[in-house]
Amino acid sequence: MHVASELTPFAKTGGLGDVLAGLPPALAARGHEVVVVLPRYRHIAERGLDSTLARRLRRFPVQLGPETIEVELWEGPLGASQRCRVWLVDHPASFDRDGMYGPSGGGGDWPDNARRYALFCKAALAIADQLDWWPDVVHAHDWQAGPAMIYAKSPPSHRPHPRRVFTVHNLVFQGYFPEAVIEELGFPRSGFGLDGYEFYGQVNFLKAGLTYAEHVTTVSPRYAREILSPETGHGLDGLLRTLGKRLSGVLNGIDDHVWSPARDPYLPRPYDAHTLWEKKQNKQALQRELGLAQRADLPLVGSISRLSVQKGTGLLLEAMPRLLEDGLQLVVLGTGDPDLEAAMKKLAAAHSDRVRVHIGFDEGLAHRITAACDLYVMPSQFEPCGLNQLYAMAYGSPPIVRAVGGLDDSVVDFDGKSGSGTGFKFGANTDVALEAAVRRAMIVFRDTRAYTALQRRAMSQDLSW
Ligand code: ADP
Ligand code: GLC
Repeated sequence: MHVASELTPFAKTGGLGDVLAGLPPALAARGHEVVVVLPRYRHIAERGLDSTLARRLRRFPVQLGPETIEVELWEGPLGASQRCRVWLVDHPASFDRDGMYGPSGGGGDWPDNARRYALFCKAALAIADQLDWWPDVVHAHDWQAGPAMIYAKSPPSHRPHPRRVFTVHNLVFQGYFPEAVIEELGFPRSGFGLDGYEFYGQVNFLKAGLTYAEHVTTVSPRYAREILSPETGHGLDGLLRTLGKRLSGVLNGIDDHVWSPARDPYLPRPYDAHTLWEKKQNKQALQRELGLAQRADLPLVGSISRLSVQKGTGLLLEAMPRLLEDGLQLVVLGTGDPDLEAAMKKLAAAHSDRVRVHIGFDEGLAHRITAACDLYVMPSQFEPCGLNQLYAMAYGSPPIVRAVGGLDDSVVDFDGKSGSGTGFKFGANTDVALEAAVRRAMIVFRDTRAYTALQRRAMSQDLSW
């Protein structure tokens, strides 16, 4: 049983949703029986995403602290295998709202997020018990599912203890709440301490996941090491160091039913490593769509990301004006920090002949950019794994990445002499280092033979789960 707050296409703000859509079907293909549990957010029905699901004609009582709360269940298949299912926990008072983690127009988090997500986690186990589908393993993801580790450690007395795995997709988001929620959520008082879910006098959902799990994973081996140091441990490095062998890094894979250039329904012209001329048609089509000059000779650089400090948006903004003088086109798709959104729009306005910035979340455009661009840029300050560089490689769009976390683990730096590598890496967290890496990539782009070989190497990797 996977417990998570996102699952593509039902609910997605980033890579977490993609992982939950890719990993469980891959496990099912190996013969496991897998259920992914997700809240039934309002937009799921609004957008008709639940057309493959059916509502159970019964209610499920869930004991949350002193209260008994009734939830309903929607369920259906996930992916091609009969062995993989999705369960949507329906509790309108918690999830029938405009926005997943907070009001969709911005304005922070919902004030009752502790209760919303604890109820969701408790409901996952209560439903499993009442349907007599008791899991052998409960695998919880990120802070929203941290309470599942606490609840799974104390199962109903007639049930065996499931094994408990917790995956950290991003250590920055921890979910802090006041001590007063402990009784309401039915957390054990004894756990409110250094070795438990307490963090500087508050309840910390991510720390609950880390301390109540039997094994903790992160989404790349390098990130698993990086978070052991105080600079990148976000206050939890001490605890993480004590985990020893109970902490490991497993690099994310990609769901190649969704991210494969040969059968991507969003693309005007599907292609593979042997039909790369078709990829050029996708570039032309995107240039036309966005009103950019139809230039095959200018490298088109793509970026799809949350506009945030993590993603290195600032570095891109600083390096780009200089790089644009040298002749490249830039297409950015993103949402996030309002200041960074404004700065991106300003960049586009100042270079309207070469830059297009689309502020918004658009799955189809993300696919079209990934296919159309000649180079994909991802200058993250830190990156637990990152999926866009994997998608870019699968689509023959060599990524330019900062050598951190999963970016370092998944991309091999181009080496012209030995004819190896799958992208371009740089080390320093500076715009100058980014600029140098992009210039290096532009030189290779102009060398058709070397560039095509690079594309083919990137595309021939097995990046699946
Ligand atoms: P993170 O989860 O840290 O945001 P990842 O690289 O793991 O980063 O995953 C990001 C996912 O979200 C990818 O599938 C990416 O294509 C998608 N994505 C990010 N921003 C947008 C956007 N504005 N429109 C469409 N998809 C987006
Ligand atoms: C987080 C990380 C990202 C990772 C994703 C999926 O959002 O920021 O690096 O790829 O989770 O694991």
